[in-house]
Amino acid sequence: MKALQITGYGEFAKNLEFKEVDKPEISDNEILIKVKAVSLNPIDYKIVKGNLKELLNLDLPTGIGYDVSGEVVEAGSDVKDFKQGDAIFGRVPQEYMGTLAEFVKVDHKVMAKKPDNVKFEKAASLPLVGITAIQALSKVGLKEGDRILIHAGSGGVGSFAVQYAKEKGAIVYTTTSSSNLDWVKALGADRVIDYKNEDYKNVASDLDIVFDTLGEDYTFEAFQIIKDGGRVASIAGPPDVETAKQMGMDDYELPEKLKELIDKKSAAYKFTWMQPNAAQLNEIRKMVEDRSIRPVVDLIYPFEDAVKAFEYLAKGHAQGKVIVSL
Ligand SMILES: NC(=O)c1ccc[n+]([C@@H]2O[C@H](COP(=O)([O-])OP(=O)(O)OC[C@H]3O[C@@H](n4cnc5c(N)ncnc54)[C@H](OP(=O)(O)O)[C@@H]3O)[C@@H](O)[C@H]2O)c1
Repeated sequence: MKALQITGYGEFAKNLEFKEVDKPEISDNEILIKVKAVSLNPIDYKIVKGNLKELLNLDLPTGIGYDVSGEVVEAGSDVKDFKQGDAIFGRVPQEYMGTLAEFVKVDHKVMAKKPDNVKFEKAASLPLVGITAIQALSKVGLKEGDRILIHAGSGGVGSFAVQYAKEKGAIVYTTTSSSNLDWVKALGADRVIDYKNEDYKNVASDLDIVFDTLGEDYTFEAFQIIKDGGRVASIAGPPDVETAKQMGMDDYELPEKLKELIDKKSAAYKFTWMQPNAAQLNEIRKMVEDRSIRPVVDLIYPFEDAVKAFEYLAKGHAQGKVIVSL
């Protein structure tokens, strides 16, 4: 079968190659999926660039891609929840990475049936970003009436998180640039802040929660705009100690500056390193089927142009999700 593989670290065109590889063989707990669509996430391009070399320790060449939607073509003898022909979607665990291929195998426990009312391309846009938003916002106890700033409402995670937070009854502020204002507002945000022309810190203050999807200074600045006892959920800043341990960073300590900011505001700082989760996928499926969440797809590339999809996403200005269709 044809698969896109990462052969080295650096430029996409030099380190991503289409190869002819064996079709995966499944064990009793696994399913084989005929891949219909894959969505790209920043982690995919960060892997190719070598940013996660130490953390993931990959044996190259290897497949690339985590999100997938497709059709079950074979199910192991222990698999009772899926059968041949089922349309499914999910984010594969690290050991199964390699969804940019004609077929991929995965443990059935992390997948779910695809929402009935959307095509494979839209279904593939949801798992990683949707599960991330749910896990990050659950960790800080998002609830009805919370005032929250979600950074990058036009990004993959942000465009899901805005809709999810509204669905949970929160009052939602979000940031994006001028050309995205209208469509991000249409996702339901109460106030869309044009980060090119407004300082978000002057617009949103005394918040219950900041969802930091940008990292760097944005992580620290979050503490200026939360109220005392507020919460910061991050997916792009420094890990918290507990999550760092789960990621295998045993000697990790929180940066001093972050410790001080947390203390000063009596705040909670929770980092999320998303984990595949079928129950949350099923929650996403239901929200898509009852139309409280709408997948946001920017561009769809054919499989042979997958490298172009990496190049586009890595520019950092996708409007929703970037998809590769097989
Ligand atoms: N820890 C985890 O488990 C986890 C999971 C998922 C993602 N992540 C990380 O979270 C980050 C976001 O992921 P993503 O999939 O949402 O990325 P993405 O879709 O590539 O984000 C692109 C969006 O970011 C917006 N943006 C860029 N700079 C901005 C700024 N200064 N202010 C506001 N918006 C800005 C862009 O809007 P404009 O074009 O208008 O600038 C664009 O729409 C990435 O670093 C990713 O690696 C971590």
